[in-house]
Amino acid sequence: MSATKARVVLVLLSCLISAATGLVLSRGGGEQKSAGRAKPLIGLSMDTLKEERWQNDRDLFVKKAGELGAEVLVQAANSDDTRQIQDIEALISRKVDLLLIVPHNGAAMAKGVRLAHDAGIPVIAYDRLITGEPLDLYISFDPVRVGEQQAQYLVDIFKGKGKKKIVRILGAKTDNNAVLMKVGQDRVLSPYIKSGDFSIVHEDWAENWKPENAKKIAQAALTRVGAFDAVLAANDGTAGGAIQALTEEGLAGKVVVTGQDAELSACQRIAAGTQAMTIYKPLKALAGLAAETAVKMARGRPIVAKGELDNGAGKVPSILMEVYTVTKANIDSTVVKDGFHSREEVYRGLVAGK
Ligand code: BGC
Repeated sequence: MSATKARVVLVLLSCLISAATGLVLSRGGGEQKSAGRAKPLIGLSMDTLKEERWQNDRDLFVKKAGELGAEVLVQAANSDDTRQIQDIEALISRKVDLLLIVPHNGAAMAKGVRLAHDAGIPVIAYDRLITGEPLDLYISFDPVRVGEQQAQYLVDIFKGKGKKKIVRILGAKTDNNAVLMKVGQDRVLSPYIKSGDFSIVHEDWAENWKPENAKKIAQAALTRVGAFDAVLAANDGTAGGAIQALTEEGLAGKVVVTGQDAELSACQRIAAGTQAMTIYKPLKALAGLAAETAVKMARGRPIVAKGELDNGAGKVPSILMEVYTVTKANIDSTVVKDGFHSREEVYRGLVAGK
């Protein structure tokens, strides 16, 4: 049974219990629990706030939820599963009407979902899927599309230019997104690997997506392989780490480096020519839609999600948003035009460096 169906059944069941006992129970029970409160209360449990992207997500979500009349309690676990479970327990004890989780480890956070559901609190997985436990909703950018677009960029720029050697720096193995991004990359790269045009000469997972771990992977590749043409880096943090390693060898700007998130520092590197591309994820749209959906659910209102994704415990109602490739050529017509970064900010490093 899907999580939504289970919720509907639970709500029906709770109405029956209510008729018999006067007790109102409802898994989507924001309405009942917040009845004594002026505003719905939403819990946001985050893996980390140590990356620019997640600070943006938090700020945009809290702002939008506030405009919609809700209050948000935010916790960040600093990439620690035990701490994230404690954060979730703390939010449950504050009797939040709904919980949004950005899991550090998608499998480990199934426990957090179970605890919330036991307390009648619906759960949305935000950006990263939680596996192995029925979920009420998953809302994210499409991670497979991220991987496909990163790989497609390499295919496009290397087309007709002979055989190319690629070093691949994957994200955190514990993050379902990193796994799905690899699926997207493999889908695009495999015909070129089969034909011998591309070879992946070195690859590894960057633990916790940390730039310093990515730097070590790039250094290992430099030592082991020597020269290569591209670093297929999973995000801007890992791209930054790889570019540091390349800079130390005088190779920055000579090796094509991919990324993801359109962080300011990455956009500056693209303008300066040391990073080739990034993936822009319009966070305002994601956080805004998540806030609208979360507030509705916290008020006990039904929501509609067209997509479905299997998380190993059944089909999860899912909303997956599109992502965009950013290069030097379209930086102004994408991130700048969208107000994600100002033109001044993007080109500031370049001017200062001249
Ligand atoms: C997100 C990326 C982010 C990475 C590291 C992934 O789950 O989708 O946008 O760069 O985590 O925080």
